[in-house]
Amino acid sequence: MLNIIGAGKLGRTLGRLAADSGRYRVQDCLARSMASATAAVDFIGGGRACATVIGLQPADLWLLSVPDDAIAPTAQALAGSGVIRPGTVVFHASGAAEAEILAPLRAVGAHVASLHPAFSFAEPARAVAQFAGTLCALEGDAAACVVLRDFAAAIGAQPFALAAGGKAAYHAALSVASNYLVTLTDIARQLARQGGVDEALLSALLGPLMQGSLANALSMGPQQALTGPIVRGDAATVARHLAVLPPDLQPVYRALGERTVAVAGARLPEEARQTLLALLRD
Ligand SMILES: NC(=O)c1ccc[n+]([C@@H]2O[C@H](COP(=O)([O-])OP(=O)(O)OC[C@H]3O[C@@H](n4cnc5c(N)ncnc54)[C@H](OP(=O)(O)O)[C@@H]3O)[C@@H](O)[C@H]2O)c1
Repeated sequence: MLNIIGAGKLGRTLGRLAADSGRYRVQDCLARSMASATAAVDFIGGGRACATVIGLQPADLWLLSVPDDAIAPTAQALAGSGVIRPGTVVFHASGAAEAEILAPLRAVGAHVASLHPAFSFAEPARAVAQFAGTLCALEGDAAACVVLRDFAAAIGAQPFALAAGGKAAYHAALSVASNYLVTLTDIARQLARQGGVDEALLSALLGPLMQGSLANALSMGPQQALTGPIVRGDAATVARHLAVLPPDLQPVYRALGERTVAVAGARLPEEARQTLLALLRD
């Protein structure tokens, strides 16, 4: 029996996948408005629409798929409602928050965890069709993780365990991988414009280079994938870059340059490494 608190994009999708698996029955489905909860029940194909925690029925598995900033107050409200029975498993799906945010529920006997699908739930019908094989980061109480590995398998996900306390570093990894890649694209576009490249050519010029480098780094590993002046020990070229970089890009170029020297590792002779570091730290 599964209760869904926060029947939005993710809640509807996981609810429908759970119901379709034949291994879970969706019972109570809560949203802020009855209209939204009713739409969720229709989409999932079962359950009871609710718009308040009052009157919720006990269940052995609870998904708290409310927005991140509502998880702690919702956990508090559920813990105080008396509906959580000892041994109940409660989980949230946030990428950033730890299972620990559900601690008030542990205090009333629940086992708590977080299960974060690395997937974008823009539209539930499409998400249901495309979800199979999605990696889901799992952390929390051991008893909850056992139950959630089964749940993940039933909805077609691939769960993997995070280290205890590892959620912040895990989320930082995802942010660096997706957000900083976008920021690097922006920096490269700014420099290409400065060099006189026509706006219409920016994507065609930078796209294949960036996609090729990313594919190489993922398949060969970052050290082997490195090309360019730093791994060649070409300090004169790095000095020419530094001479034309605008002041706002100097710190990021220098910081990433230092990091790139570290990634190059043994591919860079010691003397070249020292010369480059002195230049980048100048
Ligand atoms: N969307 C994604 O791609 C994605 C990916 C991975 C993880 N997640 C995680 O999944 C969780 C839910 O995200 P979502 O995108 O599904 O959010 P969403 O579409 O905005 O749905 C949130 C649901 O919670 C309800 N709700 C909002 N505020 C509430 C409150 N204060 N108390 C009780 N219910 C409340 C909403 O009710 P109404 O329907 O009435 O507005 C809605 O049913 C978040 O923890 C998010 O980090 C999302």
